[in-house]
Amino acid sequence: MIKAIKGMNDLLPQEVERWRWVEKKARHVLGLYGFSEIRTPIVERTDLFERGLGHDTDVVEKQMYTFPDKSGSSLTLRPEATASILRAVIEHGLISEDPIQKLYSIGPMFRYERPQKGRYRQFHQINAERIGEESPFSDAESICMAYDISKAIGLGGLNIEVNSLGCKECRPRFRKALKAFLYQNRDGLCDDCKRRLETNPLRVLDCKNISCQRIVQDAPRIEEYLCNACKEHYNEVLRDLEIMGVPYSKNNLLVRGLDYYTRTTFEIKAGGLGAQDAVAGGGRYDGLLKLLGGPDVPGTGFAFGLERVMLLVDAKMQRQQGCFVAVHGGVNVKEEAIRMLSELREAGIVSQAVIDRSLKAQMRRAARSGYRFCLILGDDEISRSEVTLKDMETSFQERVPRDEALTRLQGGLKGREAL
Ligand code: HAM
Repeated sequence: MIKAIKGMNDLLPQEVERWRWVEKKARHVLGLYGFSEIRTPIVERTDLFERGLGHDTDVVEKQMYTFPDKSGSSLTLRPEATASILRAVIEHGLISEDPIQKLYSIGPMFRYERPQKGRYRQFHQINAERIGEESPFSDAESICMAYDISKAIGLGGLNIEVNSLGCKECRPRFRKALKAFLYQNRDGLCDDCKRRLETNPLRVLDCKNISCQRIVQDAPRIEEYLCNACKEHYNEVLRDLEIMGVPYSKNNLLVRGLDYYTRTTFEIKAGGLGAQDAVAGGGRYDGLLKLLGGPDVPGTGFAFGLERVMLLVDAKMQRQQGCFVAVHGGVNVKEEAIRMLSELREAGIVSQAVIDRSLKAQMRRAARSGYRFCLILGDDEISRSEVTLKDMETSFQERVPRDEALTRLQGGLKGREAL
């Protein structure tokens, strides 16, 4: 038997229904904030990610699926969406059409990581980018939008952590102080952090190793190194979050795994996910567009990891808006059922039938379909121009005139949310 690749999962139909429900909720919130969808290829030139995410990041160093194509160009399966979206914005001159771009995309990403609960090699993100705004309001609104998406899909017990990483003026000062501190404590660091100390010392701050975590508790705090402009920006983001009613906590150790962040960073963490507890993460990335060859325009954004979201979404889905048609009787019953199915679908009601089974077997399928109603047709119903309607949720059933069946079903389904 040929099996799927490790860390890459099939999504079976029932799962897909739950995913579509989450995606629909998220799309609705994104629409409310004026975001439009963009779709970019899942493969890009390798240097887009090397340049965009930073050579010293774990993603670029160890996790990219990189391969030569037949002409010898180095290509990479996208490990994230931000670089690709900015590439598309630059390539199609979107900024000159409208200096503020609000774009989202939903799709698979690829990272060669050690698979575990909440961490996969193919995973999916809902990604939102807001390009062209410098204001703290735009950072705060990004975070607020991520919070609204979480609420819309019913995630509870969340912790929104916020930090500022400063800018190219003040961060080097912090980096230097941090490096000096870490050198003094080098012996207690894990092997990865001993290496990071040279290449990317800020990453030591969010190392999951207990010994490293203990050491960084006493490390210099980035907040104390922010320049006045960054401090003001950060404070205003926090003030706006309060006005927006977004609950947050400050986390000085939140540095994120990609190099492009400046100033605001944030993560939404959830209990019950174990070590991989960030359901969403993002922040500001002024300078990234320029680095990728575009105009010097700022931006903020975030991504939700859909697999992690799905681990938290309540598995109980509503019954589908739909009607199963069950028949028992002769040829004329079957013919009436065929006409009924066409009428139901024409009226926009999802419907199915399995004509050649016993009524008992059909009712079992009706229950399994997850549809709200079952419409039963038999010789008796047809002779009286009636149908039997069964509410699968309450098991209540009644005879109704044939001409009223559609209106009754539409009434029963009205206001119920489709998946
Ligand atoms: P990221 O923190 O690397 O940021 O990923 C965002 C989210 O994707 C994580 O919080 C997590 O939920 C999910 N995720 C990441 N790696 C995996 C994995 N191996 N398996 C399952 N889920 C995973 C970014 O990707 C940035 N591009 C976000 C961003 C957009 N920043 C600005 N704009």
